Amino acid sequence: MKILSIETSCDETAAAVIKGDGKNAPEIVSNVVVSQIDIFREYGGVIPEVAARSHLEVVLPVIHRALNDAKTSLAEIDAIAVTHTPGLLGPLLIGTLTARTLAILQKKPFYPVHHLKSHIYANWLQRENLPEFPLLALVISGGHTQIIRMTAHERFEIIGTTRDDAVGECFDKVAKILGLPYPGGPSIAKAAKEGNPAAYAFPHPKLSASLHLQTPPKNGITEGVLDFSFSGLKTAVLRSVQQELGKPVSFPSHELAPLLNSKQVADFATSFQKTAVDILLEKMAEAVRMFPDTRSICFAGGVSANEALRNAALKTFTKTKVYFPKPALSGDNGAMVGAAAYYEIISGVPPSDPYQLTLMPRSPIQ
Ligand code: KG4
Ligand code: ZN
Repeated sequence: MKILSIETSCDETAAAVIKGDGKNAPEIVSNVVVSQIDIFREYGGVIPEVAARSHLEVVLPVIHRALNDAKTSLAEIDAIAVTHTPGLLGPLLIGTLTARTLAILQKKPFYPVHHLKSHIYANWLQRENLPEFPLLALVISGGHTQIIRMTAHERFEIIGTTRDDAVGECFDKVAKILGLPYPGGPSIAKAAKEGNPAAYAFPHPKLSASLHLQTPPKNGITEGVLDFSFSGLKTAVLRSVQQELGKPVSFPSHELAPLLNSKQVADFATSFQKTAVDILLEKMAEAVRMFPDTRSICFAGGVSANEALRNAALKTFTKTKVYFPKPALSGDNGAMVGAAAYYEIISGVPPSDPYQLTLMPRSPIQ
């Protein structure tokens, strides 16, 4: 079985061909990612309309290249998969309309895939070492921070979520305060290599279970105890930078960076990164305690590329096996979309009607 998969939910235009025999894990045949980072570095963040326009320009060449690299053609493809939710509406529109047009014209089964599911399934793209169920996945990206329990393929339950900012968003916002280039995650990670993680102390959020805003989970765990909050950490860094520079809390955040020296930037970056990593791993440790049958811990999403997180996770979880996607597959890519669709297909999920496609900027994994 060969799947052509397309991803345009944010600022990467990506397409891949994956193949599998229906029993074993899928194999990447080609994987093409065109990033818009160079466009958005100038603005310090993604502008959805500009992103959509850029997807429109490159989506067909990217698909063409993925097919060429795989030495295959649309006629030989068995199914077409695409990210349809969650994401930026304009960017999603380009990928989904392209994919569904190809599916209609080529009469191929059509699989719209949830973006967070794809991030988790990046862990199934290393064929020699696969996660086992039940597992806990920590999905950490620019838009999401969730702990998801999976008891089998296609069985997902959100057991923790952020109540405000996503952790990737927090990396991006702290990078902006420190004057580090977009995207903030890799910039913080780089700056953090030179710093002292104990230079500044930031608080960990204390969340009250009763504040839980989601539908209560059905598994009996106290609602909200596995939730995250990252907006306070971002503000704590801002206040600490203002204090370090002797400025009042009213001092504009965008005027702070030029006043910081490189040692201060490195120390703030590493102290912040350590706090974010500790918060993530403390919650995961709590989740593992709550679900003692957990056999695998999977990290997923752009932030899972973070080296400090990877090293700390391997030290924290010595009894349960820990999985990370290859760093190149942590961020948005087409191969993970193909992997998620592959497991939908072999789990018996029927294809969707391409004429009935609905786009959702937000929707929970199901
Ligand atoms: O999964 P992703 O590529 O896109 C979304 O689905 O959001 O995640 C992007 C996020 C950004 O916030 C980026 O700053 C963060 O992942 N990120 C990192 C690293 N690489 C990317 N955060 C921390 N450390 C990294 N090495
Ligand atoms: Zn993503």
